Amino acid sequence: MAQDQDHKQGIAAKLGLGDVFDGFKVIKSRIDMQGWNSTHQFFDVALKFAHEPKLVIELGVWKGMSCIHMAEVIKAKGLDCEILAIDTWLGSSAHLSAARRDELSPDHGYPTLYKTFMSNVKSAGHDDVIVPLPMDGNSAAYALKRLKVKADVIHIDASHEYESALADFRNYWELLNPNGIMIMDDYGNFPGVTRAACQFAAEVDRPLFGSHGKALLPKNANMSFDMRFKGKKRYNRKDV
Ligand SMILES: C[S@@+](CC[C@H](N)C(=O)[O-])C[C@H]1O[C@@H](n2cnc3c(N)ncnc32)[C@H](O)[C@@H]1O
Repeated sequence: MAQDQDHKQGIAAKLGLGDVFDGFKVIKSRIDMQGWNSTHQFFDVALKFAHEPKLVIELGVWKGMSCIHMAEVIKAKGLDCEILAIDTWLGSSAHLSAARRDELSPDHGYPTLYKTFMSNVKSAGHDDVIVPLPMDGNSAAYALKRLKVKADVIHIDASHEYESALADFRNYWELLNPNGIMIMDDYGNFPGVTRAACQFAAEVDRPLFGSHGKALLPKNANMSFDMRFKGKKRYNRKDV
C-alpha cells in the first residue's frame, strides 16, 4: 500500500534506517504475545488527545505488545501516525537470575528477544507503522535530539530503577511536542519509578494523572484529564 510505504519513508528515512521488515520471515516458533499492562486505557486517551499525532516513541518495547496495541488504536482511529520502537532487546536489571534470563531466549548467553518482537509485529500485520530502533534509551535520546525529531506521544517503559527512570523522563521530555503527552509505565507499581515520575512532574511543573500502573504527563500546562470513573467514559480531557 502506497500509504504504508510513505509511513516507512517517514521516521525510518529520517533516521536512515531503511525498512528492516523488508524480507524478514516470521519465525512461527518465536511468536509470543506476552507483555505487561500493554492495553492500558491511557494509550487510547493519549492518542486521542495529543492533537492528530504523527509520531509515537516507545522506550521499552520487549516483545512488542504495547506497540502492537498502539498500532491497533492508530489504525482504528484512522490516524496517519507511526511508532518508533526503542529498546536494546537485552532486558533490564531484573534479568540477572537463571529463571528470568531464559525469558530473553539467550543464544550462547546473548539475548535474541528481537526475533520475537519482529515475528510478533510482522505476524500481527503492523510492520507498516512500527519502526524498531535497537539502541539504549540514553543514546537514542541524544541521536533523536540531534536530528530534531519530535513526538506527540511518548511511552516510557524501560528501567524500573529510580535514577534511570528519572533520566529517561528528562531525556524524552525534550522530544515531546508542545501538545504531546508522556505516558509513564509502572507508576504506582515500582516505588523507584513512582518517585521519579512525581519528582519529574514537579520539576516541569505539570500535574500528573495517575491510574493503576501508568501515569499521563501532558506537555501543555493547560491540558488536563477528568479522572473520575463514569462507566465507560473514563479519563476525559478537561481543559483548564
Ligand atoms: C517492561 S519491558 C517493556 C514492556 C512492553 N512495553 C510491553 O508492554 O510489553 C522493558 C523493556 O525495556 C528495555 N530496556 C531496559 N533498559 C533499557 C535501556 N536503558 N535502553 C533501552 N531499552 C531498555 C528492556 O530490554 C525491556 O525490553
